[in-house]
Amino acid sequence: MKLEFDYSYMMAESVGREQGTSDAELASEVTRCQDIHARIKTRREQGELPFFDLPFAAAEVDEILHLADKVRQRFDDVVVLGIGGSALGTKAVMSALRPSWHNLVSPGDRNGLPRLFVLDNVDPDYVADHFELLNPERTCFLVISKSGSTVETASQFLVARDWLNANSCLNYREHFILITDPEHGLLRELAEREGIESCAIPAGVGGRFSVFTPVSLLPLACAGVDIVSLLKGAAAMAPQVCHDDLMTNPAYLNAVLQYLAYQKGARISVMMPYSNRLFGVADWFRQLWAESLGKKYALDGSVCHVGPTPINALGTTDQHSQVQLYMEGPFDKLVMFLAVGCFDQDFTMQSYPDMPALQYLEGHSMAELINAERRATATALARNQRPNLTLTLPDVSAASVGALLYWLQVQTLFAGYLFDVDPLDQPGVEEGKTLTYALMGREGFSEKRDEFEQLQAEVPRRVLSVDSVST
Ligand code: PA5
Repeated sequence: MKLEFDYSYMMAESVGREQGTSDAELASEVTRCQDIHARIKTRREQGELPFFDLPFAAAEVDEILHLADKVRQRFDDVVVLGIGGSALGTKAVMSALRPSWHNLVSPGDRNGLPRLFVLDNVDPDYVADHFELLNPERTCFLVISKSGSTVETASQFLVARDWLNANSCLNYREHFILITDPEHGLLRELAEREGIESCAIPAGVGGRFSVFTPVSLLPLACAGVDIVSLLKGAAAMAPQVCHDDLMTNPAYLNAVLQYLAYQKGARISVMMPYSNRLFGVADWFRQLWAESLGKKYALDGSVCHVGPTPINALGTTDQHSQVQLYMEGPFDKLVMFLAVGCFDQDFTMQSYPDMPALQYLEGHSMAELINAERRATATALARNQRPNLTLTLPDVSAASVGALLYWLQVQTLFAGYLFDVDPLDQPGVEEGKTLTYALMGREGFSEKRDEFEQLQAEVPRRVLSVDSVST
């Protein structure tokens, strides 16, 4: 089983010197890569980057499988309450590895596995719509927050608890599992004080690097995803992306190619899977890349304002939407295609009598078509001097998805050092969180509230109000 990384169309020889990367430019990064690798290695030895070792924690997996088994016996529906890194990995893997109809069919048709919903917002309509679907007696909520204090998750927890109480669930505590820091935070306190079942997110693993912890593994196992193979795939990828030879380490090489393209003006990084099942991975990666690399301060504290802007597109769907822009718009994008070598299912097209215009499709398969369209788009982009690269998975299996996620996490960490920023923090997100606490009247944040009001008062209001039709 091989994942293939094709970067032919990143190079100057195919997209021109202005947009493309030369061998000399790659060679000039070799020593820096060795230095960065050495820094990562030291940090790992000091226990600072535990996400690297997650795929090897077999004992914890047994515990997760055991707990998932208990959940499956007692409940029909599992609902994740969490946001950002506490939700996106689960959504990505679920949509890759369970059929899109998983939540739509009867329990018998999904082998008695629970439905899995991920509520990663506090839109009350969205939450209420889900409650209407669920039977409180048969619903388990997985409340997931590393910090234990994220306002969206706290709010969802309170609302879910009220909903259970209002629907006469005798002991609401039995309907919750809290997944949080092993020692700190509000959720940990709740787990201990109320005796609610809980799981620990290993210390030092941040939200967007937590897909191989109970954060995602527990909900995924509940819904029948083969988490053992997922982790095996990640573990098999580890040695291939954890060495310092730039030209044979695909995670480092991809990070360097992206970094060099950014320096030449490709400030937008598009991830475009030619597979509906992998579209969630693009969404997960969008957060990983953006939150890890988009920073105001460099590692030495100087102001830098760096970071590529990740966006998602879906092949072939977005060929009829955004590709026109990628092909002819500004030279500010780099496209990373995700391809699938072998789809699980396929269709062969038959002839249609007396329709010569359809004849060229006869005998071809749909998988062949989607891959032909991807190759055609990649080549056309290159001919228009648009750098692009393709990462091909042999199939969309638990092992290959695990391998891909591991690769992309290592790539992101490494890219952080290339951009000279801390890929593990998110001070910009924290600022918004504190202002929200202030606006919602949380104790200890009154100064922030004054600050907010002052800022508001200084801004002249420019608001238009237009009539709308009431129905
Ligand atoms: O990657 C991150 O650290 C963030 O996206 C967090 O996952 C997100 O803000 C939610 O935080 P928490 O898990 O603490 O509730």
